[in-house]
Amino acid sequence: MKTIRSIAPLRQFVRSARRQGQSVAFVPTMGALHAGHRACVEIARRSADVVVISIFVNPTQFGPGEDFTAYPRPAEADLRACREWGCDVAFVPTPEAMYPAPQDVWVEAKRLSRPMCGRTRKGHFRGVATVVAKLFHAVEPDVAVFGQKDAQQALIIRETVQQLNMPVEILLAATARERDGLAMSSRNAYLSASDRRRAAAIFAALGAGRARVAAGELDPGRVCDAVKQTLRRAGIRRIEYVELRRADDLRSLRRVGGRMLLAVAVRIGPTRLIDNLVFRRAPDGLVHDELLF
Ligand code: PAF
Repeated sequence: MKTIRSIAPLRQFVRSARRQGQSVAFVPTMGALHAGHRACVEIARRSADVVVISIFVNPTQFGPGEDFTAYPRPAEADLRACREWGCDVAFVPTPEAMYPAPQDVWVEAKRLSRPMCGRTRKGHFRGVATVVAKLFHAVEPDVAVFGQKDAQQALIIRETVQQLNMPVEILLAATARERDGLAMSSRNAYLSASDRRRAAAIFAALGAGRARVAAGELDPGRVCDAVKQTLRRAGIRRIEYVELRRADDLRSLRRVGGRMLLAVAVRIGPTRLIDNLVFRRAPDGLVHDELLF
């Protein structure tokens, strides 16, 4: 595996692979790699000849007072994982390579960035869409793989690619989970032992909402109430949002139905965690879990 730290040699490597008829898959990450990233790399491996992974903690997607400085950066362990998982290139750019000048040009999916995480993390998705656009221009991949845990991010990237005519296919990996259901996240490392036990309630709470849908509930508010009740019972009181929305475009729902995204953001101690389920209630009443896209 090659480790490349600036854009020019990366382009040279990728273009030379292309001249030899090889296709390129890309997995963008901020490092602190876990099984969720591994699932993305596996999809990338199956989708193209060459796999490029990037590791870059992107400053523009963190707001003031957020965890940019504290974000885990286990550089050695990350590169070892990339090698073991069969990546061909780890692109680990310096901040200067990604932001050679103060950023004045931004990519923003306005409507999709408004609800859910966008409400409390102002400017977050603008930072994400902008750095992903920069990374796509550097890597020039045929496909790129994102995780479903960051469902709003995935929809924003798909929309950005469509509206800016970027020739990249966006693929999704299902959320990787710990044995008790907690979604894998680099931020789980912040949890104390007692907070970690409490965090398992997030997946249980999503399940309670899903069960309400399976029982025939038609009011989205009541589905969200079932989720909040389960969270509160587990001692999770700082609930940022619980929302049931249309999975395809995040539009709000008047009535339970169609393909739905049930999404949660909470704070446990100092740690902000998000998770979601995507499902559809079939005419026979059964609820089927699905990938976001
Ligand atoms: O999901 C992430 O890890 C980041 O938001 C991404 C897509 C790598 C952009 O910095």
